[in-house]
Amino acid sequence: MKTSLIILAAGKGTRMNSELPKVLHPIAGDPMLVHAMAAGATLEPVHTVVVAGHGAEEVTAAAQDYDETATVVVQSEQLGTAHAVAQARDALSGFDGTAIVLYGDTPFVSSETLEEMMSAAEGADVVVLGFEAADPERYGRLVMDGTSLERIVEFKDASEEERAITLCNSGVIACNATLLFDLIDAVGNENASGEYYLTDIVGLARSRGLKATAVTCDEAETLGVNSRAQLAEAEAAFQARARAILIEDGVTLQAPETVFLARDTVIGRDALIEPNVVFGAGVTIESGAHIRAFSHLEGCHVSRGAVVGPYARLRPGAELEENAKVGNFVEIKNAVLAEGAKVNHLSYIGDAFVGAHANIGAGTITCNYDGVMKHHTHIGANAFIGSNTMLVAPIHIGDGAMTGSGSVITSDVEPDALALARAPQVEKPGMARKLMEMLKAKKAKTQRSS
Ligand code: UD1
Ligand code: CA
Repeated sequence: MKTSLIILAAGKGTRMNSELPKVLHPIAGDPMLVHAMAAGATLEPVHTVVVAGHGAEEVTAAAQDYDETATVVVQSEQLGTAHAVAQARDALSGFDGTAIVLYGDTPFVSSETLEEMMSAAEGADVVVLGFEAADPERYGRLVMDGTSLERIVEFKDASEEERAITLCNSGVIACNATLLFDLIDAVGNENASGEYYLTDIVGLARSRGLKATAVTCDEAETLGVNSRAQLAEAEAAFQARARAILIEDGVTLQAPETVFLARDTVIGRDALIEPNVVFGAGVTIESGAHIRAFSHLEGCHVSRGAVVGPYARLRPGAELEENAKVGNFVEIKNAVLAEGAKVNHLSYIGDAFVGAHANIGAGTITCNYDGVMKHHTHIGANAFIGSNTMLVAPIHIGDGAMTGSGSVITSDVEPDALALARAPQVEKPGMARKLMEMLKAKKAKTQRSS
């Protein structure tokens, strides 16, 4: 069955107390909105329509950064969830498959749950995702008759009896798109909030003799974020779950609660992650790699047998091939370290290629930026870069070449050549002792005269 997504993201999120639109607050490195889009993406939707309102420009940028084919429609006045869904009508004109409504501030609904809703939609006209709430608070309540969902009643409009129901509405709804917009046309706003409730489509469908049903999921999946406190809870919940999955998948986390993962972090079996490692977006760690304590990684790829850290920083575009080594206080950006290459101490390698088994001495810097443009450094296989070498890019160091410690290298070095670019050493015999005696005499004289 073909699917399209409608993601509601127009709300202001007043309780976040923020300049940033609520759905753009990040969890595990990505905006909440992207988590919702990613869950829906596994259904391979024909269209993804994001309904934006507050901060529509920023919301559009974030949505299209994740999925450039996403359509963003703007709901300029927030008149309720049915009114929000109605804004997607034109974007979905001609689409007659199943529309799934998600909330941009409810990031954890799983792909499996959405699949289950799609299956249920084969046997029912409207499918609502419900959950047994530990504390039902102000959620809408699902009024069931056996397996048939009769209607949804919002907390504000509910009787005492209805408020006693603990099966609540998550907000996620699946319905044939044509039918959905047709039902929405019939939704009014005569209720306690004066809003157009999407939830009213259930009662409307039933009154037309159509079938409605509920699929249920764990309450953790329906966690909505309305405040900074809930954002922190959501982050903690994400991290706990992501760590547990990695451990289950055969990754060693020595102190799981100190390791922070991104939404898309991939770590292979038998990788070892020491304490206090932070993964930003876009990291893949292959099986058996070793990430040592206090390292920070983003947008990088670490191959088998490679060792990173302690205290290393891998920035976007860092690519470590098998058995490469990056040691303490080393920063790598947009650079390949070929097999077995080593950068063990206190170095910056940016916009570079480091050949297989090359050894980069402590304190080496690729001077990649001239203030206007970035330039590339090539270091050949088996090259040996002496400690504290400045490699002024663009520059090409041949295979097997060496540079002397402290050199400032400004022109290319031939393979197997030794390049020295520093002031020659001058030695003055006995001068150290003479100098010391002179200084001591001077000190003694000033002390006598005072
Ligand atoms: C809604 C449901 C309620 C459910 C709860 C789950 C309705 C009428 N009620 O209530 O049954 O238990 O979610 O969290 O649907 N939004 C817009 N435009 C609008 C209004 C809302 O884009 O005009 C977006 C919000 O940004 C938010 C989502 O829709 O992401 C839900 O809106 P919200 O006002 O939070 O609905 P609730 O009152 O929580
Ligand atoms: Ca809400």
